[in-house]
Amino acid sequence: MTKSKNFFERLSITQELTISVIAVIFLMISLLGFIVAKALIKNNEEKIAWQKKSNLQIAISLLSDPIWTVDTNNIKNAAATFVKEDNQIIAVRVLDEYGDNLVESRDPSVNGSEFKELLKSKNRFIDAGDIKRNNEKIGSIEFIYSTQKFNDELTLLIIKLGLSFFVVGLGFGSIILWRLKKTITEPVNRIVEMSEKIAEGNYQFQVEEEYVLEFQQITDASNAAIRAINERDLELKRQIAKAEQATVAKSNFVSTMSHEIRTPLNAIIGLTELTLDSDLTTDQRDNLETAKLSADSLLSIINDILDFSKIEAGKLELEAMDFDIVEVLQECEKILALSARKKNIVLSSSFTMDENYVFKGDPFRVKQILLNLINNAIKFTSEGGEVHVRLDVLDRINRGALVRFEIQDNGIGIDKNKMDNLFEAFSQEDQSTTRKFGGTGLGLSISKKLIDLMGGVIGVESKVDVGSTFWFQIRLKEGR
Ligand SMILES: Nc1ncnc2c1ncn2[C@@H]1O[C@H](COP(=O)(O)OP(=O)(O)OP(=O)(O)O)[C@@H](O)[C@H]1O
Ligand SMILES: [Mg+2]
Repeated sequence: MTKSKNFFERLSITQELTISVIAVIFLMISLLGFIVAKALIKNNEEKIAWQKKSNLQIAISLLSDPIWTVDTNNIKNAAATFVKEDNQIIAVRVLDEYGDNLVESRDPSVNGSEFKELLKSKNRFIDAGDIKRNNEKIGSIEFIYSTQKFNDELTLLIIKLGLSFFVVGLGFGSIILWRLKKTITEPVNRIVEMSEKIAEGNYQFQVEEEYVLEFQQITDASNAAIRAINERDLELKRQIAKAEQATVAKSNFVSTMSHEIRTPLNAIIGLTELTLDSDLTTDQRDNLETAKLSADSLLSIINDILDFSKIEAGKLELEAMDFDIVEVLQECEKILALSARKKNIVLSSSFTMDENYVFKGDPFRVKQILLNLINNAIKFTSEGGEVHVRLDVLDRINRGALVRFEIQDNGIGIDKNKMDNLFEAFSQEDQSTTRKFGGTGLGLSISKKLIDLMGGVIGVESKVDVGSTFWFQIRLKEGR
């Protein structure tokens, strides 16, 4: 079971690095911006305080004479100069010793109503000082500063500063990301590509050198592993070729041997049959009949071995001729009727009468399969049992059909553990089977291989002491 991943675990290295770098740079810029902005504000405040103080001092010394002589023009000029020179001063008011307005000079960009509003609002600061002559107050001066203007300027400055930090951060971040891409992301991607190739079973490549030490170590190890795999593959191929050669040699030997044994055996069988036709005493006849039975069973074993080795070597070819499959079934019944009768077993078959049973295929091999299966059913069913063969033509499509045979018996059945390799060669249920029933254990494996060659399937359902149903299905073309 795979653990469900959270957002960060789902990210690729590139995404994670990008997010981390952006986050670190953002934090650094914010911190730096905060420190710089704070210093700027402090610096500005000091500058303004100093400016205010010097404004007042200059005004006091400058206006002492004109106020004394009530030189309104001069006072006006001085006040206007202050307003003009210091852009934070909105207005300058000069009052006489009784506090009445002598002169008021205002920033021309601020109209009367705006000025009134400003005076009422919090965005202003009034700095006032007395003007003295011989230590006696002869008037006073008021500077009306706009903190709004000051704040606006500061905000603008901070925005500019933020923007330049942002641009510098962006550049810096891009450089870091570009380096990380070269040193981490790209090598990791190359390693991922390499692993994918290996997962696909492609080992025909060597990984290029990496210049980051850790990645170089990975690629060195991978290259060594790929070399080892390639060497092992080569060795395996050599071994397989050797084994294949040996198999071919073995099947050639087996088929030559079977041929060599068959020829004299056929002579023995033929001559025995001939002699059986002549006048013989009962003992002689019994002996000869036993000899013939043994020779027959020897021949069938040799035929099986020959078939098996032919199929193993891929040399068995199927016929393609028109035949009536019901006739094949009936021939099998006829051949095995005697052995069924000997064991008092009822051998029967069923099929739908009005079907067309002419197909194109190999009747000899179909017959061989059926004989094997029916023979087994008779062999592994006790006296008085029943064996039934059922033929069905399943779907007929495109001038072809799926033909199914079921061979059902109520014999000894098959143990569940033996079912798995039942169709493999030499797999008799146990050694006692060989002793009790005889046989080589080749019948089912030959049948399965023949059915495979016909593109069909074989299977079995069985219960110990209840019986077995072997079935097979083959797809055949419709005959003429
Ligand atoms: N109808 C059946 N009922 C019970 N067991 C069966 C049946 N058919 C096959 N078997 C089991 O499967 C084994 C393999 O069958 P297979 O036909 O391959 O070999 P065999 O009959 O023993 O020998 P051969 O067919 O080569 O003479 C048998 O030995 C038997 O144990
Ligand atoms: Mg058999």
